This record gives sequence, C-alpha cells and structure tokens, in this order.
Amino acid sequence: MKQFINNKLKEIFADFKRDADQKGCLCELKGTNFQGGRIPDYKNAFVQRYYLLRFFPAYLAEYYLMYDKLFSIEFLSPPFNVLSIGAGCFVDYYGLHFAKEERKDYSLIDYTGIDSIDWHYKGKIIKQDRARFLHYNISELYAFAKHLPDTKHNIIVFPKSIGEFTPVEFGCLKSLFKESNLEKSKMCLMSSLRSEDNCNDVDRRRIGELTNILIKYRGYRCQDDINKVYEMPQNQPNNPNNYIGKEVRGWDYDNTVCKNVRNTLAKCKKHQDNCVEYDSDCIQLNRNPILKTSYMKYQILRFER
Ligand SMILES: C[S@@+](CC[C@H](N)C(=O)[O-])C[C@H]1O[C@@H](n2cnc3c(N)ncnc32)[C@H](O)[C@@H]1O
Repeated sequence: MKQFINNKLKEIFADFKRDADQKGCLCELKGTNFQGGRIPDYKNAFVQRYYLLRFFPAYLAEYYLMYDKLFSIEFLSPPFNVLSIGAGCFVDYYGLHFAKEERKDYSLIDYTGIDSIDWHYKGKIIKQDRARFLHYNISELYAFAKHLPDTKHNIIVFPKSIGEFTPVEFGCLKSLFKESNLEKSKMCLMSSLRSEDNCNDVDRRRIGELTNILIKYRGYRCQDDINKVYEMPQNQPNNPNNYIGKEVRGWDYDNTVCKNVRNTLAKCKKHQDNCVEYDSDCIQLNRNPILKTSYMKYQILRFER
C-alpha cells in the first residue's frame, strides 16, 4: 500500500507542479475544500490534482477500513460485485483491493464506477480485475443503462458522494433504485460520510431514503439500524495519536510531497509578488493533507430477502 500511495502521490504532484509553473498563479484552486458544504470544481484537472494531494491517501485508508469492516461482518459471500456511484478516480476500488489483499483473498474484483466526471488517475491494480468506468451523471443513467443497479450487484457504495448529488439528481437515483434489477438475496449499501454535521445529516438522510426504497419496492429487509455509523474509537478531539498509519498497516504519506502541500502557496507567483487579491482562501491552500483518522465515518447496511 505504501508504495502504491507514494507512487500515485509523486505522479500527481509532478503534474500539479507542472500546472502551477505553467499557470503562474493558484487562483483557480481557491475554494477547493468542503467547508460549509462547498463542492470543488472537479472538472478542472488542476483542482483534481490539488484535491487528490490533500485527500487521496486518507480516503483510500477510509475505504480500506470500510471494506475491511464489511468483510469482517461476514454477511456477503464472494463474488463481490461492486457498483460505486460517484467513484472519482476509483479510490474505493483501491481500498477494496488492499482490504482483500490483507485477508489474502486473491479473487478478482468486479467493480463498476460511475461518475459524471472522467477523472485522471483511474486504473486497475490487477490487470485481470474487471473494473469499468461509466461516464454518466446519475440523472442520465436511466436513459442509457436502465438496469443499474444490476442483477449481479451485491455492494453499492457511495464514496463521499451521496450528498453531492443535486435534489433532482438524487430523485433520479431513487427512481433507478425503485426500478432496479437487484436480484441478490443479500446485498449491502455503504456510504462514507462527510464530516461536517449538517453535511453528515444530509448523507445519512439520503441513505435512509434509499433504504426505504429497497424495503418497499425491492422486498428487502434491512438488518441494521439505519442510524448506525462506524467511527474510529480513538477519535477523541485533539488526540495526537490518531495518525492513519497507526490504524492502517502500510499506510504512509510521502514526506517530501507532504512538505510541498503544506507550502502550496509558495508556488503562486502572484502571491510572491504581493498579490492584492490575497485573502483567507489563499492561506487555506497551505492546509495539511489529511493524515489523521478524525474525519472517518461510514455506514454499512445489510439487506436480505
Ligand atoms: C467528493 S467526490 C468523491 C470522489 C471519489 N469517490 C473519492 O473518494 O475521491 C464526489 C464525486 O461524486 C461525483 N458526482 C457528483 N454528482 C454526481 C452525479 N450527479 N452523477 C455522477 N457522479 C456525481 C463527482 O463528480 C465526484 O467525483
């Protein structure tokens, strides 16, 4: 895992540095954070790179723990057929890969990632895995791929995405769930939650709505309390010992890239020239990449019929 993360980080950082050199200023990156429910402009490759430098290793660790928890519950049996909605650059596929590897499960992965944005840095770790990308907005899916979720899917995952759909898009997703071809007698819904309280509430309410649809229209019983959220036990406020690498074996964030991310503003030529537009959004660009488990929160709901 360490090597995989650090190779990705170095690749992304090299591209980021090249962009920064070419552009000369970092104004496009202002607002690339989630404060107050903000949504970064992921269409912009420069923004994608900055987002990934800050969040990719930590999200990989969170999804790794989420899949590991799913396996430890021993509810589903292989094959695992994953539908990831809002998959980005497949970070949860990477988490799934390492969770299986840790368990010495070398079966191939069947993964479908959907996203309205065609992210850079998607790829397979194992050549033979079936990992496909569907470049759709969920609001278009109904027209193009009526039968999603499909007969084979037994894991449907929202990797930090469910709260980012507009109300209309989420309405479309609910229709897809109502008319889906889900056929498995056992399946799971998983969602990794945004950490701010009001965002967290939206994310959980939406999972609750999908749960009700699966019960009412697809004949499933939900085996879990829909309010159950998995959090890290060591997440006491200001606990200095909640470094992700302590919780996830092999997790690491390359030191050189880390120092550079903490000092992102140094790459802004306008800033170096005493830019008059300098404001609090600029200083935010020097924030740490996520290295602690404090924000990790996810739900796993089991369904049976
Ligand atoms: C916070 S990002 C998470 C990306 C990735 N799962 C990760 O962990 O890095 C949310 C993702 O949801 C996608 N998304 C938002 N609305 C969407 C929609 N209506 N249809 C498909 N994807 C959508 C965005 O493009 C973005 O990639």
